[in-house]
Amino acid sequence: MSERDLQPGGREQWATKIGFMLAAMGSAVGLGNIWRFSYVAGENGGAAFLVLYIAIIALIGIPIMMAEFSIGRKAQSDAVGSFQKLAPGRPWVTAGFLGVASAFIILSFYGVVAGWTLKYFVSYLTGGLWSEPAEGYGGFFEGFIMSSAEPVVWQFLFMAITVGVVLMGIKKGIEKANLILMPTLAILLIIMSIYSLTLGGAQEGLSFLFAPDWSVLTEPGIYLAALGQAFFSLSLGMGALITYGSYLSSKERLPGATAGIASMDTVFAIVAGIMIFPAVFAFGIDPAAGPGLVFVILPSVFEAIPLGVVVGLAFFFLLAAAGLSSAISLLEVAVAYFIRKFGWTRKATALIIGGLIFLLGIPSSLSMGVMADFTIFGNVFMDAMEGLSDIFLPLGGLIIALFVGWGWKKAQSLEASDFGASAIGTIWLFLLRFVAPAAIAVVLVAQFY
Ligand code: TRP
Repeated sequence: MSERDLQPGGREQWATKIGFMLAAMGSAVGLGNIWRFSYVAGENGGAAFLVLYIAIIALIGIPIMMAEFSIGRKAQSDAVGSFQKLAPGRPWVTAGFLGVASAFIILSFYGVVAGWTLKYFVSYLTGGLWSEPAEGYGGFFEGFIMSSAEPVVWQFLFMAITVGVVLMGIKKGIEKANLILMPTLAILLIIMSIYSLTLGGAQEGLSFLFAPDWSVLTEPGIYLAALGQAFFSLSLGMGALITYGSYLSSKERLPGATAGIASMDTVFAIVAGIMIFPAVFAFGIDPAAGPGLVFVILPSVFEAIPLGVVVGLAFFFLLAAAGLSSAISLLEVAVAYFIRKFGWTRKATALIIGGLIFLLGIPSSLSMGVMADFTIFGNVFMDAMEGLSDIFLPLGGLIIALFVGWGWKKAQSLEASDFGASAIGTIWLFLLRFVAPAAIAVVLVAQFY
């Protein structure tokens, strides 16, 4: 953002609608669509999970995304400040504090996994993955994440890049780069899906992803997994989109932007699934293998593809770039808050907060190796952090839904969202007032039984 784009209060503002769309899409599309979607869908039965996931996006995710943008644009402040401005002295601001806490939690392990993608990118650059290592691709991955120093070094590198972008204020450059990088990633995913379908596991892979075995819906864990993944993938429930909406002028129309962002994010995840699951079955790997899934499967796919080394190199570069634009949005939530709260400079804030988040991520980085025996409720540290985000994001979303649904007057909500007196605005408010809060509350409360 340039100096010329300041709002009346002196805050920055997106110069154009496309700048806002790019930033929001850059935030949404990331490791969540490829790495996290495929392993969570794999662990939760595939197709039935996908149906549940899409239903949650449509009935809960999109309405809450509209709510976040409406709040941010109206208040023109960060996740915490927006609530303090719109509802001073009221408890709604809890959602903002939860959001800042979630930024720490999520970015701490996000930086770890993004570090893994950097390691793979460099391995395709320097030869480590030009052919199958003696220990196999699975052995390569495990040897890497179990070693004590290496994952931390890559995590540090990724966090340093993220902090560098946020402190130099060159986010706009990254978003412009996304204009090329994201479509390239999409094309690469499609090409890889086609190849993946020729590897011999197409039938099993596609039916795993698209032919629901409804019996998995009796597993209580699937609901929280789908809810948490929907919020994670859409960057929802922690004020990231409040913060981004706050840089938007009131000239833009929110509903169209929201629909575009949410559907694109979902298409990315589905295409990633078409890429992963046929290969999972072709290479005889358990779809429920967990967070290492894409790091073990994809190298085998690249080996089977002509020019696979180049494709692998491009893929991990693009994935790391997609992760970077998401990580920026996570860091920005905390940085925007601390800048306003303590009056620190952007530079100092990005360094301090980024540094703290890096430190918080170290136990996640080590949780498959030297810290594997350190567990919280039976989960290694990284899984515990992910589990916490599965609860914090929907909880934040619940409060946001109630705030716009009930805390605001009907006319106020309809105006802030650009829905006006349309029928679809009435549906939106109904979903925000009743459907989303009830569904989230039931899923969260059910966790305690
Ligand atoms: N949505 C991103 C992804 O799918 C991750 C992310 C970025 C995020 N910003 C967020 C998740 C804010 C929750 C909240 O990779």
